[in-house]
Amino acid sequence: MAFPPQFLDEIRARLPVSSVVGKRVKLIRRGREYVGLSPFSNEKTPSFTVNDEKGFFHCFSSSEHGDIFKFLMKTQNLSFPEAVERLADEAGLEMPRETPEAAHEAARATVLREAVDAACVIFEQALRSPEGQAGLEYLKGRGLSDETIGRFRLGFAPPGNVVKSKLIARGLKEDVLLEARLLSPGREGRESFDFFRSRVVFPIMDQRGRPVAFGGRIMGEGEPKYLNSADTPLFHKGHMLYGLDLARGPAAEAREIIVAEGYMDVIGLAQAGLLNAVAPLGTAMTEAQIELLWRSAPEPVLCFDGDAAGQKAALRAAERALPLLKPGFSLRFAMMPPGEDPDDICRHSGAGAMKELLAQALPLSEVMWRQLVAEHPGETPERRAGLERAAMAKASQVGDETVQNQYRRMFRDRLFEHFRAGSGPRTRGFGAKGGGSPWPAARKKPSFFPVPARFMGQDGAVAQRKREQILLVTLLNHPALADHVEERLGGMSLSDSRLDSLRQTALMHIAQNPDLEFGVLHAHLASEGFAEELENLLNSDIYVHAGFARPSALMEQATVGWDHTFAMCQRAALEAELKRAEVELAENPSEQAFAAFKALQDQAGPVGDEDDDQVGIGHTNHHTR
Ligand code: UTP
Ligand code: MN
Repeated sequence: MAFPPQFLDEIRARLPVSSVVGKRVKLIRRGREYVGLSPFSNEKTPSFTVNDEKGFFHCFSSSEHGDIFKFLMKTQNLSFPEAVERLADEAGLEMPRETPEAAHEAARATVLREAVDAACVIFEQALRSPEGQAGLEYLKGRGLSDETIGRFRLGFAPPGNVVKSKLIARGLKEDVLLEARLLSPGREGRESFDFFRSRVVFPIMDQRGRPVAFGGRIMGEGEPKYLNSADTPLFHKGHMLYGLDLARGPAAEAREIIVAEGYMDVIGLAQAGLLNAVAPLGTAMTEAQIELLWRSAPEPVLCFDGDAAGQKAALRAAERALPLLKPGFSLRFAMMPPGEDPDDICRHSGAGAMKELLAQALPLSEVMWRQLVAEHPGETPERRAGLERAAMAKASQVGDETVQNQYRRMFRDRLFEHFRAGSGPRTRGFGAKGGGSPWPAARKKPSFFPVPARFMGQDGAVAQRKREQILLVTLLNHPALADHVEERLGGMSLSDSRLDSLRQTALMHIAQNPDLEFGVLHAHLASEGFAEELENLLNSDIYVHAGFARPSALMEQATVGWDHTFAMCQRAALEAELKRAEVELAENPSEQAFAAFKALQDQAGPVGDEDDDQVGIGHTNHHTR
């Protein structure tokens, strides 16, 4: 349908381009314009500009150009009417109606709104009148202040047909009240009656803060605990989040939004000062709701009960989100202590405790990985392969290609790490309790080099690092070495975490691609984000020390050089360990300490004249004797 130009202009006037673009692209102000990295190309230097005065964005790298509607169409893959609808909503504007049906619908919505609005006021007033005393006491008994009650416009539905009689008296028609779900149709020819009776009432607001539906809680025990309005033309459960109208501002400010399970959680969190909370309405989270959340914060934190059912629910939510993930947008998962919800925690342990739990929220990827590991225990090659296959299959469920690649990459790193470390104690699901944290870290087997660099002394550590680099570079330039060195290299604990993941990725890639050419390997690693590391490693600084590491070196030279460097590496580590044991023995001359020292000494063997010129590490040689 054609939109009236004034309508589009009004949206443009209300939404500066920078605010629309700024939600998806990090913009930096430069004079009258904003600049940022183009969302249309993969660039490192910003060539994307936004001009609020002119109402346009322009991308110099892809020559994309347009207004806010165009921007949404391009980045969110929307049609023009969809983009208009989204932005109209963001601007707080009603969509124009043109066809007779649309006009009729709009008129109907207006009456429905009037009815729901009036009912909301009736409930609020009832809560403050003698008939609502029990309701007010109930809410106060749950720790809510007048301010909180007012903020959420909580109310009370009296017994009888108060809503029906008051609204009919106001001139509203019965069929409107039925359609608004304020009345239940009477069965078998009987009169219709108030849907909410003798309950405290939670109005559900749309994003603009207008009441569209209600939830009603029984005071005390009883079934059903909550009654909820069914969907109406104003209210689409799966597209709404309870509390979003109030949480939007605080969430945008904090760049964090909390997702709890129910009405009372949202309200209890607000009572405790956490104003950025919402809840889906009694159902599993929908795609539309996740998109809504992402408009407020890039990584909404979902709270789940730490019991078995809660863990399952968390996993289901994580699974459902996989196809929706996009660069920069994900979910995090906070597990509450078993049997407690955020409202309980705020009331019993306070906002501080709640914030701590939120701070410990796990990324979606981590939840997935832990679950994969829990589902695939075991050390045999077949079981490991099972885990690997499941992990790769999980990664393929990610919809966005870039994110999918990152998932693969993370899983590959984790697989390597996991197998290298051994699975350690069985992980029981991702919420399993093991002492303090519910998230047990994978235990590492002792590595070939149990000595942390800090025991090596300054020079020793520098030399050791250089040796590690040489080992790695030799492999990168001679991928065929992998067969010969894989086990030893894989078992080393490298002093630098980037080198560590470079090694993992390289070994993985070589293992999966026999006869890999070194240039192809480098290109792959660069594409996996290691360009900078490669640049630092593959240079003459290394080759001066270790000619055998050069791509031009013969395979035999590379092999001998690698073995020799490895031996030196091992010896240096052993000596550092020995030194540490010596110190310990001096400080604490127990039999145990002596035995440990002796064992290391035996392992180190007689100290001879090892000739390390070939792979010398210059001035730091003295540490390797
Ligand atoms: P819970 O049973 O966890 O209740 O339901 P709660 O939020 O802790 O509420 P209080 O603290 O007992 O008052 C969570 C959500 O599930 C939906 C509601 O949306 C509720 O907020 N629900 C629950 C229903 O719709 N109907 C029910 O009978 C129960
Ligand atoms: Mn509760």
